[in-house]
Amino acid sequence: MSEAPAPLRLFVALNLPDAVRAEVVEALGPLRGAIPPGVVSWVREPNLHLTLRFLGEVPAERAAALAGALDHTVADAVAPTLTLGGIGAFPTRERPRVLWVGVEMNVALAALYQKVDDLCDTLGFGRESRPYRPHLTVGRVRAGRRPPALDGAFLTTPRWSVRVPTVDLMSSELAPGGARYRVLRAAPLSRREDA
Ligand code: 2AM
Repeated sequence: MSEAPAPLRLFVALNLPDAVRAEVVEALGPLRGAIPPGVVSWVREPNLHLTLRFLGEVPAERAAALAGALDHTVADAVAPTLTLGGIGAFPTRERPRVLWVGVEMNVALAALYQKVDDLCDTLGFGRESRPYRPHLTVGRVRAGRRPPALDGAFLTTPRWSVRVPTVDLMSSELAPGGARYRVLRAAPLSRREDA
């Protein structure tokens, strides 16, 4: 008897153009210089993304249906223009655990988030219980380490404005060198202009 395929760890994300990811990493230089080595696990450049919805472990056979439903759901949603910039931390800059580059909420992003959350609910994944705070995670404080409070000019970055053409269903494989992400489906958004 063959074994069932392993469940997939899935999330829905907006991915950024390579050039913007490279500029974000470059802009993090002063922040990285302000934190002692080994305290933060920095997200590798290809892994930088904006999560819309985390789904967690999903039976592999549900992934195809989810991808198809995502295609259908976002086809008439306006492609958002993301405005990114500035560094912050969860839960606070005084006791940082997750370091991020900010993403401004706007009408198209809020509408898209709502559509994806509605879809997840319809498909039986439930709704996200926490309010959505769009962010690009750039680093995570390692267990047992405590970085200095974040306060300084290194929190300022350029601002980027990026039109994102697809919503991506992603899988995440946890590996020793950091998570490995794969795009399972890039679902095209409508070509209508962002308001
Ligand atoms: P984060 O960047 O703020 O950690 C893949 O793990 C993506 O899903 C990450 O961007 C992560 O957000 C997001 N995510 C949201 N909720 C999560 C959870 N409970 N566990 C792991 N990742 C989560």
